[in-house]
Amino acid sequence: MLITGVSGFVGQKLAARFLEAGHRVIGVDLRAGDFNFARHPEFQFYAADLTDPASVADLPFENVDLLYHLAAAGVKAATRQWPLCVRVNVMGTATLMQAFLQRVNQGQSVPRIVYAKTYYKDHLGAIPAFQENPYVVSKVAATRWVEALSAVYPQSITIAKVFQVYGPGDDPNNVLSYAARTLKAGEKATFGSGNSLRDWIYIDDFIADLIACGADHGIGLHRFDLGSGERHTIREMVELIAELAGADIRHHLSFIKHQTYENTPHRLRDSTELAVRRTHRPEFIEGPKSGFIGSHTLDRLLALNGRLAGKHGKLD
Ligand SMILES: NC(=O)c1ccc[n+]([C@@H]2O[C@H](COP(=O)([O-])OP(=O)(O)OC[C@H]3O[C@@H](n4cnc5c(N)ncnc54)[C@H](O)[C@@H]3O)[C@@H](O)[C@H]2O)c1
Repeated sequence: MLITGVSGFVGQKLAARFLEAGHRVIGVDLRAGDFNFARHPEFQFYAADLTDPASVADLPFENVDLLYHLAAAGVKAATRQWPLCVRVNVMGTATLMQAFLQRVNQGQSVPRIVYAKTYYKDHLGAIPAFQENPYVVSKVAATRWVEALSAVYPQSITIAKVFQVYGPGDDPNNVLSYAARTLKAGEKATFGSGNSLRDWIYIDDFIADLIACGADHGIGLHRFDLGSGERHTIREMVELIAELAGADIRHHLSFIKHQTYENTPHRLRDSTELAVRRTHRPEFIEGPKSGFIGSHTLDRLLALNGRLAGKHGKLD
C-alpha cells in the first residue's frame, strides 16, 4: 500500500502496524520521519511534494492496491496558514486525485482510497470560527474533491471522519501533550475555558479503525466515523491527567475565561453537538468484533498512567 503523510503522527503509526502485519508499505512525505522501521525490507520511502504534479507522476502506483491519503497542512496549529493549507490540502489532494483519474482514463490499475477528513467539516456552517480556519476550510474542499472522484472511480473510496486523536507521538503543542509535559515537570498549566467537548480517540484504537477502513467495501463512496463514541471536555481530560501525574489540581491548573467558541453560550451549544454520529462502522479485520473498537477514553488515559510515571514514558 501507499501512505501519504507517512512521517506524520498518524502515518508513522499506520505504516508500523502494516509492516508488523507483513505488508509492503510505500511511504510518501516531504521528508523522512524519525522512523523506527526505516530499514525494514518491506518499507520504501519516497520524498515527494504532492502539490508538484511531476513528483506525483513519478510515484510507483502500478502495484499499489490501497492508498491512505493522510498528508495535510494545518493539522498542527504551527502550519495553519491559508496559502500553505490551500496549496497542500486542496491542490495536493487534487493533484493526487487527478493522477488517479488519468490512470482510470488510460485503463491502468488504481488503488482503493482511504481519505482522513476532519469532523469539523460537519460544523463549518454552525461555528463561525471554523469558517476562518484555513485547515478546516481547505480540508472541506479537499474532501469534496475525493467525494467527486468516486462518481467515476472503479474502486472503493472511503472517507474516514476523524475525531480527536491523542497519544504518544502527537504534536507537543496539542492540549493533552502540553498538559502531560507541564504537569509532569511540576509546572503550572494554563488553558482556555476547557469547556469544549470532544470525542477523543487513542492513537492505537484509531489505527485499528483506520486499517479496517482500508478493506474492500465495494465500488463507490463509503463513510465511517472514527471516534471513541464518548465525549469529554478538555477540562475533564486535563484534570484526569493532572490526577495521574500526581499534580495538585488547585495549584497546578488554571482555566482562563475568554471569549472563544468554546465558552460563548450559543457556540457552546454548537460544540456540544460535535458528537459522534456514527454512520456505520467498518468491518473489523483485526481487534474486537463488536462494540467500540477502542477502550473507553478514560480507561485509555488510565493506561497511560504507567507512561506518565515511567522513566521513558510520555504522552507527547
Ligand atoms: N490528528 C488528528 O487528531 C486528526 C483529526 C482529524 C483529521 N486528521 C487527518 O488525519 C491526517 C493525518 O493527521 P496527522 O495528525 O498525522 O497530521 P501530521 O501533521 O502529523 O502529518 C501530516 C504529514 O503530511 C506531510 N505533508 C505536508 N505537506 C505535504 C506535501 N506537500 N507533500 C507530501 N507530504 C506532505 C507532513 O510533512 C506531515 O508528515 C490528516 O489528513 C489530518 O487532516 C487528523
